[in-house]
Amino acid sequence: MKLIREGKTKKVFFDPKKKKFFLQFKNDITAFNMKKHEIMAEKGEVNCEITTILFGKLKEKRIPMAFKRRAGKDLIEVSDVRMIPIEVVVRNIAYGSILKRYNFKEGFKFSEPLVEFFYKDDARDDPPISPRIAELLKVCRREDFEKMEKLAIAINDVLKTAFRAAGITLVDFKIEFGFNEKGRIVLSDEIDPDSCRLWDKKGEMLDKERFRKGMGNVMESYKEILRRLKRL
Ligand code: TMP
Ligand code: ASP
Repeated sequence: MKLIREGKTKKVFFDPKKKKFFLQFKNDITAFNMKKHEIMAEKGEVNCEITTILFGKLKEKRIPMAFKRRAGKDLIEVSDVRMIPIEVVVRNIAYGSILKRYNFKEGFKFSEPLVEFFYKDDARDDPPISPRIAELLKVCRREDFEKMEKLAIAINDVLKTAFRAAGITLVDFKIEFGFNEKGRIVLSDEIDPDSCRLWDKKGEMLDKERFRKGMGNVMESYKEILRRLKRL
């Protein structure tokens, strides 16, 4: 298999014989644009399994996606997509960076999910991006924002329901989209505790916030999420 791209926490491979693409989940965990970086045993496989379960639930609800199947312990097969360099963040509860940017009270429950868009540019710390700026920068078309927002809200509905059944509150999450070979927008990347904020009934954080805040028990919490999702 040929390595075609390596990010902070994932690798993209291409199998030229089978003409298939694969995403490998690494054990690296990073925060604050690599200011914090560690290797955590088993993280790749745990996140791969969580992503597989969640993408499976989304597939059942006909969300278009690059995900095809789990192809190994830390490997998924994906379709060929051209990634849109935008992080789409969906928030149900005010927490994290939004509290720094706007005067929301921590823990405020949004009556409808709030969708925000950030341009993936490490040197500029991923600034917010509007449809017009995306058009000017030739990142995507204006109308792609409407599609991403619609899909993001539909994805939130499915995920919120699944996590609620597992006794977990979905506070917020980040997803990424790409264009498939037909030029359609499809959910890509991953969905796991690296890219979500997940609180249990007691308000205990079970996601990467534990690593950001140096709270410890990161893998224990990721495994707890997996254990609960597997019971559904
Ligand atoms: P934020 O509150 O820091 O903007 O994060 C919102 C959500 O997006 C949270 O669930 C964490 C996730 N996220 C990522 O997956 N990658 C990132 O680089 C950032 C900044 C946030
Ligand atoms: N995703 C990280 C965070 O949420 C940022 C990074 O990977 O550098 O803080």
